[in-house]
Order: sequence, then C-alpha cells, then structure tokens
Amino acid sequence: MLVHTPVRTTDSIQQIPLNLRFWLVTVFFTSWVRASNVGGPCHTTQYSVKGMYLRGHTFKNVRVGPHDSCYFKCTEEVTCQSYNFVIGQNICELNNRTKEARPEDFLPDETRYYMRRLTNRGIFRNLICSSREWQEKGTELSSQLTPNPFVPTIPPRGGHPPHSNLVRGKLTSPTSNPAGDGAYVPLGSIPELPAESCSEIIASEGGAIKYKKYWIHSHGKSGSIEAYCEDGWQKVNGEDPVCFGAKNNKYGSIIITKSGRLRTMKLVHKNGSLRCNSETGPSFWGCTYAPYGKKLSTIITDATKTVVLPPVKDLKGFRASQSHDCGTKKHFYSLNGTSHNSTVLAFQTLSNPLSVSRDEELQIWYGQDLKDCSESGNSGSACVDVYAWYE
Ligand SMILES: *[C@@H]1O[C@H](CO)[C@@H](O)[C@H](O)[C@H]1NC(C)=O
Ligand SMILES: *[C@@H]1O[C@H](CO)[C@@H](O)[C@H](O)[C@H]1NC(C)=O
Ligand SMILES: *[C@@H]1O[C@H](CO)[C@@H](O)[C@H](O)[C@H]1NC(C)=O
Ligand SMILES: *[C@@H]1O[C@H](CO)[C@@H](O)[C@H](O)[C@H]1NC(C)=O
Repeated sequence: MLVHTPVRTTDSIQQIPLNLRFWLVTVFFTSWVRASNVGGPCHTTQYSVKGMYLRGHTFKNVRVGPHDSCYFKCTEEVTCQSYNFVIGQNICELNNRTKEARPEDFLPDETRYYMRRLTNRGIFRNLICSSREWQEKGTELSSQLTPNPFVPTIPPRGGHPPHSNLVRGKLTSPTSNPAGDGAYVPLGSIPELPAESCSEIIASEGGAIKYKKYWIHSHGKSGSIEAYCEDGWQKVNGEDPVCFGAKNNKYGSIIITKSGRLRTMKLVHKNGSLRCNSETGPSFWGCTYAPYGKKLSTIITDATKTVVLPPVKDLKGFRASQSHDCGTKKHFYSLNGTSHNSTVLAFQTLSNPLSVSRDEELQIWYGQDLKDCSESGNSGSACVDVYAWYE
C-alpha cells in the first residue's frame, strides 16, 4: 500500500524568497492536503509519493544544493514529466515518463520519493485550493495522510479498446513549449518526447484524448511519426481514406506506419457502398441479400491474404445444405451492435495480439472477392479511415 507522507527533506525551502516559498509550500502541501469535500472543486491529482520511485525512465541526474528544488530542475527540461528524489544524496532523477504511463515501473524504494510535474491547470487549481485549505485546516493536515482518492482511474495501458463511435474533437496542432517557460508538456506533444503509442498517452494524461496529432515512436526507439490519436486508437491511413471494391480483387491497401503488437483495428466509413446483387440494397460492410441477414463481410488480411481480423474462427460459411455460389467458404461474421449501415466497424480484441512491422501491408477485402465466389453481380466500393490499437 502506498503511504503518502509530507515531503520534508533536504529538498529545502528555508531560504527562498517569499513568493517562491509560498509557491513551493502550496505545491508540496497539495501533495498531502486532502480535499475537504469529495467531488468538490479541490480535486488534486498532483502529489508526491514517499518510498516509491519510477524505474528506468531517468534521462538526467542532477545534484541539488540545499536551496534548490528538484521541482524547478524538472521544469527547466522540456521532456521532464516527473522526478525521483534520492533522499540524503540530494539527487534529482528526472524522468521522461510518469507513473501513470508506466505503472509497471513504479516500485518501492525507501530512499526515494516520486513527484509528478504539475500541469498548468494543476498549478492554478492547486494554488487556489491549497491556499484555501491551508486556512481552513491549518496544522491538522499532517496527520491526515491517506491515499489520494482523486487519482483518476486510468485503464491499463493497452487496455480494452472501447468499441464506440468516433466523437470528432476539434483539430488542433501539436502544442510545443518553445519558450521554455516551465509549462508542462503532455507526452507525445513535441518531437523531443514521442510516446510509445496512443494508449500510452491516454494512460499518462489520465483519460480520453481528442482526435489530435501526436508524436509516436514508429519502430522501437528509432524514428517517430506524427499520427492522429483518438483515445487509444492510432489512425493508420493519411488524409485519404482507403477504398475497397466488391469484385475483381479490388482490396484496399493499408500500409502500417508503426511496428508493434496490434490488439485490434477499426474502420470508420467515409463514403461509398457495396452491393452483392443488383436487386438488393447497398451496405457499407457486407451483403444485404436475405440469407446474410445482418452478417458482415469486410475482412482484414495480411499481404498473403491470410485473415487477420476478425479472428479466423469467427468467420462462417453457409450450411452445406444451403445452395449458394460461395457454398461453405468462410467469408462472413456477426459483430454485436454493428450492421450494414453502422459508421464504425470495430473488431473484437484479439486474444493474441498481432505483430506488425512498419511499412508492412495489410489488406481490406470484401468477403466474396477474397474467396472469389458469387462476385460477378457485385458492384460499388467503399472508403474508410483505418485505426489501430496497439498494446
Ligand atoms: C527517456 O529516457 C530514457 C532513459 O531512461 C532514454 O533512453 C530515452 O531516450 C528518453 N526518451 C526521450 C524521448 O527523451
Ligand atoms: C469518396 O469520395 C471521394 C472524394 O470525394 C471520391 O473521389 C471517391 O470517388 C468517393 N468514393 C466512393 C466509393 O464513393
Ligand atoms: C452480443 O451481445 C449480447 C448482449 O450484450 C450477448 O448476450 C451475446 O453473447 C453477444 N454475442 C456475441 C457473439 O458476442
Ligand atoms: C440503418 O438501417 C436500419 C434498417 O436496417 C434503419 O432502420 C436505419 O434507419 C438505418 N440507419 C441509417 C442511419 O441509415
């Protein structure tokens, strides 16, 4: 269990000018001030954690004098997201990740404490809230050390992708911190601080993220790309959607932009539609000919036409007794909540994530075209945006 204790160490604030000292006091006090009313405006998500540290993400060690604070050393570095303070040695280990982004690396160590860099919003809120509570609660604060109840609950990195419709956020360009004014920079928002994946960004930033461009590693630590993230989803195609047809091997080509392990993908319909019969109506994802019912027939394969999504075990063919040109060839599937006119086709999460490499091709196929059956009467094409969810 985490024990949150006041930070009273050689990270001293004794001889600092008054305004700075006030600032420091408020910053550190919020680490152990309990907001007086749960759900009120004084939620504090910023705090230090004694006896814990973040392992393996230190990009710089700085020794501080008795009048220095690690906090300010951290704010001098644009990529600093948090720090470990080594008690007794006066060493600040500046980290380029937070414990929210890497919960698996947040470990006990009695000789250290951990503190996250405040967001701008956090600074403002904490100043107001902590000065108020300082007045209200005065000296009784130090005895009230409980785990912070206001830490946002964050899905584990690579957690279950929400199979929800896209809610388009406003497009904004990446923020940068050229002024070096000490403002906190979110993970992935500048080229110097690429994130591992969109899901790491949500974990680090503590919640949903809007449709926006971020810097993401594209192949291990080498190279990074700018990609749209929305929640944990990373958009794979560029500005142009990917189109696929219903016959004559008109698959849509997806070029993977990031190496990694794919948990699943989703397709977002942009325009067009497909028909499997001149007499039946159009569909975004399948065939509206009655025997198919609400079954879908949009399939993702690798470059050798091996089915990747949905998992091949979910693919069905017709019963042997049912007469159809595709016979028992497995080329359609059910997906709960998704039908012929759904805007979003979000596949189920793979139980074994799929390893993909940057520049590898995946293909989007119409089932009958993939299996080369019953396709002569087919027509139309559909265009989609492609999103991937990495571990
Ligand atoms: C983050 O720090 C690690 C060392 O812990 C370093 O290998 C890595 O390159 C740093 N990443 C960035 C983006 O600064
Ligand atoms: C989708 O829209 C684009 C741009 O408006 C157009 O070029 C393309 O032909 C359309 N595709 C289909 C299948 O409707
Ligand atoms: C579809 O959803 C229903 C209700 O949520 C559930 O009972 C059923 O098992 C689901 N089917 C599949 C194939 O996931
Ligand atoms: C989708 O199709 C159903 C019938 O299958 C229809 O009731 C519904 O209005 C359609 N929705 C849209 C947005 O076209």
